[in-house]
Amino acid sequence: MHVYILLVLCVCLRGVKSFPNGEVEESCQSMTPNHSEFKSQTSSSPYKVSVNSTTFTPGQTITVTLQAAENASEFQGFMLQAREVDGKTAVGRFTSINTVQSRALNCFNIENSTLSQASADKKSHFEATWEAPTNSSLV
Ligand SMILES: *[C@@H]1O[C@H](CO)[C@@H](O)[C@H](O)[C@H]1NC(C)=O
Ligand SMILES: *[C@@H]1O[C@H](CO)[C@@H](O)[C@H](O)[C@H]1NC(C)=O
Ligand SMILES: *[C@@H]1O[C@H](CO)[C@@H](O)[C@H](O)[C@H]1NC(C)=O
Ligand SMILES: *[C@@H]1O[C@H](CO)[C@@H](O)[C@H](O)[C@H]1NC(C)=O
Ligand SMILES: *[C@@H]1O[C@H](CO)[C@@H](O)[C@H](O)[C@H]1NC(C)=O
Repeated sequence: MHVYILLVLCVCLRGVKSFPNGEVEESCQSMTPNHSEFKSQTSSSPYKVSVNSTTFTPGQTITVTLQAAENASEFQGFMLQAREVDGKTAVGRFTSINTVQSRALNCFNIENSTLSQASADKKSHFEATWEAPTNSSLV
């Protein structure tokens, strides 16, 4: 059975002068960089997050792609987390984690619920695999 739930992926791109290793658990809830020198932009995002499926069944995996839009600069830092629409905590977890490019964080005490960058290397494309929860009230 397919359950039609919109998966919201929040992405946050930031300079990584202070946190090149992605140890940013303090941002699990806000998903905003803790860099006082940066302000959120209000114009359209030069980066995009796409998924290969917008619905899921319990335990199903979905490919999530983060990429720089046309003409956008490369990015260094990011934070990727799935939430229920209007949800305040993460749902599901990432699997088959590329540990060269990303670091798994255990936000909200869910192992690997969030990914951030593993280094300040410049990238224009990052792909991850997200696994739907098996115990969620959503499914
Ligand atoms: C931001 O970083 C400072 C210094 O490390 C810390 O004291 C503060 O709690 C952090 N704020 C948030 C919202 O994470
Ligand atoms: C989406 O990607 C996942 C993980 O790579 C794969 O298992 C699944 O079959 C893909 N789904 C579709 C609809 O292509
Ligand atoms: C990208 O840059 C090229 C060359 O500067 C320009 O012609 C094109 O319109 C730009 N595309 C977008 C989507 O901004
Ligand atoms: C979390 O990710 C790490 C790799 O970063 C992996 O070794 C571990 O088994 C994962 N845990 C779960 C519960 O998927
Ligand atoms: C599902 O499991 C996660 C991780 O063990 C837990 O944090 C969450 O509260 C559970 N959710 C439900 C609806 O039981």
